[in-house]
Amino acid sequence: MAKERVVIVTGAASGMGLGIAQRFAAAGHPVAMLDMQEGALARESAALKDAGANILALKVDVADRAQVDAAYAGIRKTLGPISIVIANAGISAAQDFLTMSVETWQRMIDVNLTGVFHTIQPAVPDMVEQKWGRIVTISSNAAQIGASDRAHYSAAKGGVIGLTKGLARELARHGITVNTIPPSLVDTPLARRGEATGEVPPLDVISQMIPISRPGTPDDIAAACEFLCSDGASYITGQQINVNGGMYM
Ligand SMILES: NC(=O)c1ccc[n+]([C@@H]2O[C@H](COP(=O)([O-])OP(=O)(O)OC[C@H]3O[C@@H](n4cnc5c(N)ncnc54)[C@H](O)[C@@H]3O)[C@@H](O)[C@H]2O)c1
Repeated sequence: MAKERVVIVTGAASGMGLGIAQRFAAAGHPVAMLDMQEGALARESAALKDAGANILALKVDVADRAQVDAAYAGIRKTLGPISIVIANAGISAAQDFLTMSVETWQRMIDVNLTGVFHTIQPAVPDMVEQKWGRIVTISSNAAQIGASDRAHYSAAKGGVIGLTKGLARELARHGITVNTIPPSLVDTPLARRGEATGEVPPLDVISQMIPISRPGTPDDIAAACEFLCSDGASYITGQQINVNGGMYM
């Protein structure tokens, strides 16, 4: 195995975040799993610990900086300095623009954009100290091609792509890379909820628009994260890595 690195994954109780935490844990890295959903977090982290992984599970709302700071202090104490951050936690819900309340707009920005800022900023001093760090954000192809009834989501995810590129330039001199993965359709509880409420077409229908005619799996995204966080990816920074079955090229 490559060197052990302390990894933080947000939104780790479900979907892609869970797949990413599982993959880093399987590779032998200590993983801090952060999420708001206490029950699912306890269940999934216990399963990984039972399998022998070094896991710290913490209930955190990434939109709340005080909660993030407290969690990171605990992670440093228990697992050690932070080397890898996967800013994955996010929410998505359909809302037409004309009736969108300021509160709905603001919560989307608070979680999906400012939450990414909170997730990354307090980890960077550890990476600077180590002269090595890896940051991967999970954006969305909604930021690349737009999504109807999701102007707020598209805007927040576009912000994540801009944040990723700005940071990539700023942190390169410290040996830290920053990249983003903008998925199209990944089969997760979030995607299934959208299908169930009719907010998005059935996954089978969307799959017909994807050259590799299936939704992505959480592990498709996790595999790309693992590569981007390896030593072999040290010359890749500021990039959008489209892990999307060819849906957007
Ligand atoms: N599934 C897709 O097709 C798809 C496509 C493009 C982008 N994305 C993005 O991928 C990421 C993961 O999505 P998913 O499909 O796995 O969703 P999911 O709902 O299955 O999992 C998201 C997890 O994030 C957690 N979370 C939400 N808000 C949080 C907060 N404020 N603080 C901490 N945790 C919070 C949830 O509790 C949940 O466990 C999101 O950022 C989403 O926008 C998903």
